[in-house]
This record gives sequence, structure tokens and C-alpha cells, in this order.
Amino acid sequence: MNRKIDHWDGRHVWLIGASSGIGAALASLLLEQGAHVALSARTLAPLEAGCGGRARALALALDVTDHASVLRARDELCECWPRIDLVLVLAGGYNDMRADSFDLAAANRLIDLNLRGVFNCLDAVLPVLLKQGAGGLGIVASVAGYGGLPKALVYGPTKAALINLSESLYLDLQPRGIDVYQINPGFVDTPLTAANDFNMPALMTADAAAWELLRGVERGQFHIHFPKRFTNSLRLARLLPYRLYFWLVRKVTGL
Ligand SMILES: NC(=O)c1ccc[n+]([C@@H]2O[C@H](COP(=O)([O-])OP(=O)(O)OC[C@H]3O[C@@H](n4cnc5c(N)ncnc54)[C@H](OP(=O)(O)O)[C@@H]3O)[C@@H](O)[C@H]2O)c1
Repeated sequence: MNRKIDHWDGRHVWLIGASSGIGAALASLLLEQGAHVALSARTLAPLEAGCGGRARALALALDVTDHASVLRARDELCECWPRIDLVLVLAGGYNDMRADSFDLAAANRLIDLNLRGVFNCLDAVLPVLLKQGAGGLGIVASVAGYGGLPKALVYGPTKAALINLSESLYLDLQPRGIDVYQINPGFVDTPLTAANDFNMPALMTADAAAWELLRGVERGQFHIHFPKRFTNSLRLARLLPYRLYFWLVRKVTGL
């Protein structure tokens, strides 16, 4: 559904959300394979550490909830690079809200980060990609966006919105020469999941997640999801009638 990529050597990749977890692992994988990588997030120190002193790596601090800071980083990047081959938006957060602990302020903060933050990134990169008529854009959503789950009262809807958004982006951008990737990880062992107090089936390392993500992009897939044994069961569950879906989710999660 997208163009295949047979090497990363010399390609220019902007990772938004690269100071830890999947983004940091991706940065290191891409740098090893010869790509030029811009690492962005709010905190500069881990971004600089991720650059490892390589001339091909650039640390660009930004806050995705601050539109002006994203535009500033985009402008700085465009001054340094001849083009952007791939933008991956990973920046995101999680809270384990349920209906009996609903907190509007926390809900709005997560929407600002997970959803409006992505729109701020789109506003910065779409003009560049459209002008190039080439390149790729990947949005990291989550399997939590496939269907309602306990403890994902706000996280789930933000990720469901990103799944929908990536579909619309594909329809609009693919005919204009721009590849679009919808990326739905299962459970990955990162700071984002560190506080989870429940069993996380098929938990994978950030390195393994970054490897799977990159393989999906290289193969030209639109829908990149991993680990398959977990993500495919969730996709299958989503096809069930609601009565069965709710029964299954309650049985599996115990919640
Ligand atoms: N881990 C999982 O199990 C899992 C599963 C499905 C989907 N995902 C998704 O994968 C993505 C990456 O998550 P992760 O697991 O790798 O978690 P992580 O290690 O916590 O990484 C999140 C990244 O986003 C950055 N970030 C947070 N707020 C930001 C802001 N306002 N502006 C700019 N950057 C910001 C963080 O850096 P700073 O704090 O320095 O800004 C960090 O680099 C997220 O979108 C997450 O929802 C994760």
C-alpha cells in the first residue's frame, strides 16, 4: 500500500517523541543503519544522548502541545536538511482512567498531548511533505484504539481518533506521493507502561517494537501492528457481536 524501502542509508527521518521508549530505540536503529535522524521531545538531555555525537543526528527540543515550538523545530530542521523522507509521530502519554475516577482536567491534558499534539505536528510537516510530493508520515496510535477497554477511558478514544485520522491521511496523501503508516503497538516495556499494575500480555521490549515498526515501513505496509499474536486476537475480538466482545474483555482482563 506504500512504497517499499530497501535501505536507510542517507534517508532523513524525524522522530517526534524520541527521548525514551520506542522512539529512542528507533533512533538508535536508524542511526546504526546510516540514516540522518532528528530526535524530538521536550527534554534535551536524553535527545542529545541519543544522538551519540554523530553528525547525522540532530536533537530538536519541542513540546507537541505548544504549536509554536513544533513550527520552530520544523524550521530549524528544514534549514539543516535538504528534505524529510519520513516523519514518525510517537509523542504520547497514558493515564489509566476509569468511569468512577473520571477527571476532566486530566482527560483534557491527555487529549492535548495525544490528539491535538498530533495535529500540531501535522500542521508543521504537511506543507513540507506536500511541497516535496514525496516522503512518509507515520502516526503511532495503539491497539487500545481498536475498541473500548477498561482503564483506557481517555487514552482509548485518543488512539481511536488517530486510527481514523491515519486512514483519512492515507486517502489524501497517498495519491500525492506521500506514504502514510498507521502504527498500532501492543504492550511495550517503556516508561509509558512502567506504572501498569495489571498483567500485560505479550509484552515486548522497545528494541523489538522499533524493529517491527521499521520492518513494517520497509515492507510498505499501511497498518503496522505488533506483536501479531496479541494484536490479531484483539482485531478478531473486535469483529464479535458486542455481547461477546464485552464478555471476552471482562474475562481476559478481570476488570
Ligand atoms: N508502550 C506501549 O505499550 C505502547 C502501546 C501502544 C502504543 N504506544 C504509543 O507509542 C508511543 C510511544 O510511547 P512509548 O511507549 O515509547 O512511551 P515513552 O517512552 O513514554 O515515550 C513517549 C515519548 O513522547 C515524548 N513526549 C511526551 N510528551 C511530549 C510532549 N508534550 N511533547 C513532545 N514529546 C513528548 C516523551 O519525551 P519527553 O517526556 O521528554 O517529552 C517520549 O520521548 C506513544 O504514542 C504511545 O501511546 C505505546
